[in-house]
Amino acid sequence: MKTLNVELGDRSYPIYIGRELIDRAELLARHVSSQQVLLLTNATVAPLYLARVNAALGDRRIEQLILPDGEAYKTLDSAAEIWDRLLERRFSRNATLVALGGGVIGDLGGFAAACYQRGIPFVQIPTTLLAQVDSSVGGKTGVNHPRGKNMIGAFYQPLAVIADTGTLCTLPDRELSAGLAEVIKYGLIRDPAFFEWIEANIKALVQREPEALAHAIEQSCRNKAAVVAADERETGVRATLNLGHTFGHAIETGCGYGTYLHGEAVAIGTCMAARLSHRLGWLGYDGVGRIESLLRSAGLPTQLEPGQLSAGRMLELMAVDKKNVDGKLRLILLEGIGTATLPLEIDSATVEATLTEILSS
Ligand code: NAD
Ligand code: GLY
Repeated sequence: MKTLNVELGDRSYPIYIGRELIDRAELLARHVSSQQVLLLTNATVAPLYLARVNAALGDRRIEQLILPDGEAYKTLDSAAEIWDRLLERRFSRNATLVALGGGVIGDLGGFAAACYQRGIPFVQIPTTLLAQVDSSVGGKTGVNHPRGKNMIGAFYQPLAVIADTGTLCTLPDRELSAGLAEVIKYGLIRDPAFFEWIEANIKALVQREPEALAHAIEQSCRNKAAVVAADERETGVRATLNLGHTFGHAIETGCGYGTYLHGEAVAIGTCMAARLSHRLGWLGYDGVGRIESLLRSAGLPTQLEPGQLSAGRMLELMAVDKKNVDGKLRLILLEGIGTATLPLEIDSATVEATLTEILSS
């Protein structure tokens, strides 16, 4: 087992990465100190891993809550269901919420934990690659609004992240690829050596070779932990973690949650950001080619299907983004492979021209 730390003063916490960690009672006991535990998961993950986590939690008052699966359930209604259950069972302020699942369960569970009685202890057990390399680390929690992704939420750090890489063996291929989009992101924004390592090892990653996956998860978490420690509340460098996400969130909202997986939308959005960076003269054409080729090798889409969204509609949707200031569009772009810009105000005519070119090609 590898242990990394997210350094946030008295709210610092460990990320454990290794196989069969969900069975380790002593690991859970280190971070779950309450008798009352709400174990939150979804209908897909429950039959696979719920009993094992339940057993490892031992002799406590465990309330299981199994939600339907899907991004469409990352809503305020689902959060209300969690709060209803906590209240019905008279869970007190020291009760722990354990979120077992992908990013949807982690984001939703974290948000519910942040609000219940103004904040209860919370532990993340991520079971998708995307959640293990990104969403479970850093304390961004929240739900979607019909008008925009992740628009309602809170910064709320977990007490620990327990990433059991063994759980990835049941993950569908498409979900594995979606996670690789975020792995590639770290290489692109701040770690060129890691980008080259991913290029050299992409086949091993797609074929789920355990050593390659473990290295990718560890290096991704190392990058994420460093960025979060430097800028927990996203006043600066943390925004670079959103490379491709402004486009990606617009794609998710515009095509309907679930049409593209989050990681797929991010992959298409990353290609859009790369093309725009090229148009502005910052990223060479060879750089754009390397990015598109790596994403394709990871099994990811690099462009929208014809007719799915117009450039105008994309811009309209991108106007609802948390990085925007005073209603002006701000984007993370690339100055090269391994260097991202901070959010930049980009003239919407330039963005529209780039999108029109991409969407008509
Ligand atoms: P997800 O939670 O929907 O999980 C993907 C699918 O895999 C689901 O069907 C799920 O039931 C299934 N699944 C989970 N674990 C499995 C396993 N071990 N075996 C088989 N199936 C399994 O999606 P995701 O990609 O994990 O997360 C996407 C969400 O994360 C989005 O809502 C996105 O906005 C959010 N996100 C948040 C952050 C953050 O910093 N908080 C960062 C990135 C993404
Ligand atoms: N996934 C973006 C962030 O955590 O800031």
